[in-house]
Amino acid sequence: MKNDRVLILDFGSQTTQLIARRVRELNVYCEILPYHVDEERILEFAPAAIILSGGPASVKWEKAQHLPKAVLDLDVHVLGICYGMQIVCQSFGGDVDAHEEKEFGQAIVRQLKPSLLFEQVPALSQVWMSHGDQVHKLPQGFETLAQSDTCPHAAVYSVEKKFYGVQFHPEVMHSVDGTTLLSNFLFRIAKVQASWESKNWLVEKIAHIKAQVGSKHVLMGLSGGVDSSVAATLIHQAIGDQLDCLYVDHGLSREGEVEEIKNLFADQYHIRLRIVDAKSRFFEALAGVEDPESKRKIAGRMFVEVFEEEAKKVPDIEFLGQGTLYPDVVESVSAFGGPSDVIKTHHNVGGLPDRMRLQLVEPLRDLFKDEVRVLGRELGLPSSLVDRQPFPGPGFAIRVIGEVTTQRCARLRRADAIVREEIERSLREGSLKQKLWQYFAVLLPTRSVGVMGDARTYGETVVVRIVESSDGMTADWVEIPKAILGRIASRINNEVAGVSRVLYDISSKPPSTIEWE
Ligand code: XMP
Repeated sequence: MKNDRVLILDFGSQTTQLIARRVRELNVYCEILPYHVDEERILEFAPAAIILSGGPASVKWEKAQHLPKAVLDLDVHVLGICYGMQIVCQSFGGDVDAHEEKEFGQAIVRQLKPSLLFEQVPALSQVWMSHGDQVHKLPQGFETLAQSDTCPHAAVYSVEKKFYGVQFHPEVMHSVDGTTLLSNFLFRIAKVQASWESKNWLVEKIAHIKAQVGSKHVLMGLSGGVDSSVAATLIHQAIGDQLDCLYVDHGLSREGEVEEIKNLFADQYHIRLRIVDAKSRFFEALAGVEDPESKRKIAGRMFVEVFEEEAKKVPDIEFLGQGTLYPDVVESVSAFGGPSDVIKTHHNVGGLPDRMRLQLVEPLRDLFKDEVRVLGRELGLPSSLVDRQPFPGPGFAIRVIGEVTTQRCARLRRADAIVREEIERSLREGSLKQKLWQYFAVLLPTRSVGVMGDARTYGETVVVRIVESSDGMTADWVEIPKAILGRIASRINNEVAGVSRVLYDISSKPPSTIEWE
């Protein structure tokens, strides 16, 4: 048994990766395996402790999932979360109430007696519940540690079985003392050693890619974003020249982006990079189209078309590299099929079709965005890339409102560069201190009258959009000092031909979205 590794058995919960994330934050190495994995794998992994995730199933269902025998054979401490607690209680002769109605949201748990699990946790603690079923009869030898108004056995344990169970989710942030509980389980109860650091990721991921790919070749689409850049650099470190990268230049990207990608990946990292000039094809396909969804679909379809065509020119490819992150992975249990998964839709690559029949290399599949940034820094990627703001897959196609033409794109490109230059300068100089999620320009087809010199102008409108957000799901507009906004407006009006008005967007999300289309 290795005393520094934890196994998380996944029963299909949406928050299984969050459990892994919390364990990693406590500097403990962990791996997630699906509950139906070979018992041999569990024994081989020889964890110092096991955490059973929640899951969407009911232990009362006819074809209920089972608890692998190896979990009990290993004789290590086990923490069951939600469904993970119910399945253990049921296995040892307890009983579970099946409820159609779900209890979902915050609750207060009250400790009934002192325990190692609740050490340093206040007598009343706010937790996050998300369950239909709950245990109503404990197995023999089990005791209740805490309860809530609606849940008589919110936390349970059995010394003899080395088992702790919680009906709530300590891994989510809304469980205020969740990290303390997990830390108590790992260190006070299971005596796991904290020896893992984020810099181990590099070594682990590289070893994993090498083992998966062997001597075969990988093709990777670079988008200029954080995820594909970190994934490509990582894959390159693992397999060097067995990697080919493709960048589809659709003419819808920000100023300087194509050159930056070329400088960094081809010139500095010596990654074999093919830049495909597909600008005229994209603009032809988008000509005359004004509807936002149609533009998104066309941009996605064109990307797939060009990518597929170019992929055929690269010999001996068997793998496709992708910068898929955990939040992109919608399935849970089935998401752990591993290296043999065939390609599936991913919004950043527009859904490369199944017929390519390539296997996927997705080294970031178990990570969250901020963890990918940490990894990018470990890889030595510059902050201009690692801390880059989000940019939509269809690029300027959805920021040029109305018809997308080369001329209107060029207009937006310059206006957008001015917004970025001025905001970044203000951040550097300290005249702007707020945290910003995104700052960019949008071009409207609305024309208005202006006056320049002694002449009348009748140009288009640029909207400046600056928002703060923690995850892009909700967002607030940011109060930017008048002097900074003034400089942005005057530069855009003066430097961008064909624009005669600049507006500042003061809409929050919801009800407005961050992007205009
Ligand atoms: P909305 O506009 O829905 O956007 O508030 C939320 C976040 O997602 C980004 N976004 C995209 N990212 N492909 C992407 O990779 C896309 O098609 C796409 N559309 C929107 C947006 O910039 C914001 O950060």
